[in-house]
Amino acid sequence: MRKKIVAGNWKMNKTLQEAEALVKEIISGCADEDTVTKVLFPPFVFIQDLASLTKEKKGISIGAQNCYHLESGAYTGEVSANAIASVGGTHVIVGHSERRMYFNESHEELRQKIELIFKNNLTPIYCVGEKLNERKSNNYFHAVKKQIEEVIFHFSEAQMKKCVLAYEPVWAIGTGETATPEQAQEMHSFIRLAVAEKFGQAVASEISILYGGSCNAGNAKELFACADVDGGLIGGASLKAGEFLSIIKSF
Ligand code: PGA
Repeated sequence: MRKKIVAGNWKMNKTLQEAEALVKEIISGCADEDTVTKVLFPPFVFIQDLASLTKEKKGISIGAQNCYHLESGAYTGEVSANAIASVGGTHVIVGHSERRMYFNESHEELRQKIELIFKNNLTPIYCVGEKLNERKSNNYFHAVKKQIEEVIFHFSEAQMKKCVLAYEPVWAIGTGETATPEQAQEMHSFIRLAVAEKFGQAVASEISILYGGSCNAGNAKELFACADVDGGLIGGASLKAGEFLSIIKSF
């Protein structure tokens, strides 16, 4: 059975006090018996503190929104995968469209990041997704295939089993416009097929593929009901405990 995952990408929001309050509310709102894996992605500086809050709660952990593509050294202002692991982080988001767009991240760098994430026993959540012009010109399969081939096809079968993928159409991120369940399912099954062709059916059936892009309490249920959608990577709607908890309960 594939893992059901709901991930909250907080982006550059919250103070430490607000972050602690939000995590505490989420912890108290989650039932111990629920089988959904929850991962919260605060800004780097809160990871250690929040990881100590979630430590005793089953099924909730803290991750990082990014890491640097090199192991360590004179890279002022950057954060290594090793440092994230040392403060209790469990997952790292890689290749989010905002990072591809504003920080010009290359496929070569994204590959290096994932390599280091695996090396530090962390789980990557690798994001892919087409831009609006690629959707409109019917080039969306091609765009996503390229993001997959050039980054994750370099890993081994054993590594791929530990990778989580997220389909986030760029036109749906932070816009309030969500992919329809049909559009999401179409792309998720395309991604799973690409993984199956490269790594075999066993790996493809095991890998969780999350949907991201204006996913909220109102649309999560129909998105999560799609056969190949294994959860969500939630931005805006993860900043309020009530909304995030209803998304978790949408399975
Ligand atoms: P959104 O962001 O839910 O605010 O659209 C999703 C994401 O960027 O991961």
